[in-house]
Amino acid sequence: MEEKETLQRIVSHCKEYGFVFPSSEIYDNLGAVYDYGPFGVELKNNIKEYWWKSMVQMNDNIVGLDAAIFMHPTTWKASGHVDSFSDPLIDNKDSKKRYRADVLLEEKIESFRIKGEKELNKKGIALTSLPEEKGKASRDYQKYLNLEKAYGEAATAVDLKRYKELIEEYEIACEVSGSKNWTDVRQFNLMFGTKLGALDETSTDLYLRPETAQGIFVNFLNVQKSARMKIPFGIAQIGKAFRNEIVARQFIFRMREFEQMEMQFFVRPGEELEWFEKWKAIRLKWHLALGSNPEDLRFHVHEKLAHYANAAEDIQFKFPIGFKELEGIHSRTDFDLTEHQKFSGKKLQYFDPEINQNYVPYVIETSIGLDRMFLRILSESLKEESLEGGETRIVLNLPPALAPIKVAILPLLKRDGLPEKAKEILEKLRFVGKTFYEEKDAIGKRYRRMDAIGTPYCITVDHQTLEDNTVTLRERDTMTQERVEISKLEALILEKTDINTLLRKLV
Ligand code: GAP
Repeated sequence: MEEKETLQRIVSHCKEYGFVFPSSEIYDNLGAVYDYGPFGVELKNNIKEYWWKSMVQMNDNIVGLDAAIFMHPTTWKASGHVDSFSDPLIDNKDSKKRYRADVLLEEKIESFRIKGEKELNKKGIALTSLPEEKGKASRDYQKYLNLEKAYGEAATAVDLKRYKELIEEYEIACEVSGSKNWTDVRQFNLMFGTKLGALDETSTDLYLRPETAQGIFVNFLNVQKSARMKIPFGIAQIGKAFRNEIVARQFIFRMREFEQMEMQFFVRPGEELEWFEKWKAIRLKWHLALGSNPEDLRFHVHEKLAHYANAAEDIQFKFPIGFKELEGIHSRTDFDLTEHQKFSGKKLQYFDPEINQNYVPYVIETSIGLDRMFLRILSESLKEESLEGGETRIVLNLPPALAPIKVAILPLLKRDGLPEKAKEILEKLRFVGKTFYEEKDAIGKRYRRMDAIGTPYCITVDHQTLEDNTVTLRERDTMTQERVEISKLEALILEKTDINTLLRKLV
């Protein structure tokens, strides 16, 4: 049985095989910022294509947008980001290391739960027993219950003083200094500020957008009118977002510069919860079509709703760091459009001819992090397989439609006209997607390299090819090899690797 790769193995694999590099590595990196290498950018673009085509091209009532990263600063006042887009942070006075107070508490809760459940297991007490029974049987489990309750209350009341009291009460120590000498907890806004204009006196303070959604809201009427959209309709966008994350130790899971794929779906007031359920189902199907284990994906209901939402759930994936948010599906009511109306003084309403009424539409949002999606794909694809004869191979079982390289063309030898023939075939396969030509090293070694970057097919050109125009086609997952006529290659490869093969699973 293959095991899920740990995060560290994924990080190393990404670096070695040209998927993801730390940013500015020659200057010792920039924290929580990453660059995508030659194979990473192909995989990322393929994920984008899968999302964009499924959203924009397969739905007549969804159109696209590419709004600027810079937006008028009032946007962020209206959206609430200036006043409340912050994390509670705390510093350790001895090490000067900064932490998110909520994360410190959540990690402590999780460690009590794990220790508690281990003890219950040892004592033979079922995890399905009542919480009181479990608390009585294990001190750690009782601590888990107590801290979870106290933290929940403090979080609901946004009580920063209570956060610090809990950190002290449960003796949480700094991982660097080991000390419990903490500052007070204070809010830290996550938006990056910058300036527009050359002169200090006249320049305007701007923010780098922390989400792409606001570009959609402020363009609601522009899009609705120019594309002649009728409610219900959606606007989709892919673009960069920036957040000054405090805890940023989880590779591309939590980055300071990342990419979002967001869609705002505008509906008639009162119909939003019905659409919320529909979008949940559509999005889950999109995820499952990639062939994932259904047990690795689950919905997580937000118990504490943001003040503007009347329903919110996350699609969580079982990352190597545990079940974590991959995508958010939110029913955001009419909050954003109403706030932009208020702050801009411009009407953002829709006249609904069917009911002869003007209203501010309600919004269902689906928001997925592209980088998190990338990490999910790698987490479930990177395998170490044991082969007969005690050999192992590292393989990326990527969905073929997402693979960076669709086919590699490998002449068996570097002579006898085989490279020339191989290049001729390569030209014939230009339209299957990105291809790769390699003539160096033994054929087995070349296959292994292609397995490691997830190439679904390898073509080997040998002496027989020169005689009868056939090649060996090797399939990545089964490693089976068959003799195929050159004229049939394109159709055979496309059948499995074309993005439309994947998209057809959605209809
Ligand atoms: N417009 C709604 C919104 O931005 P969010 O839950 O803050 O909601 C949506 O972000 C998605 O963006 C998340 O589910 C996650 O996949 C991704 N995301 C958020 N912060 C991220 C970060 N620092 N690094 C990478 N991805 C992030």
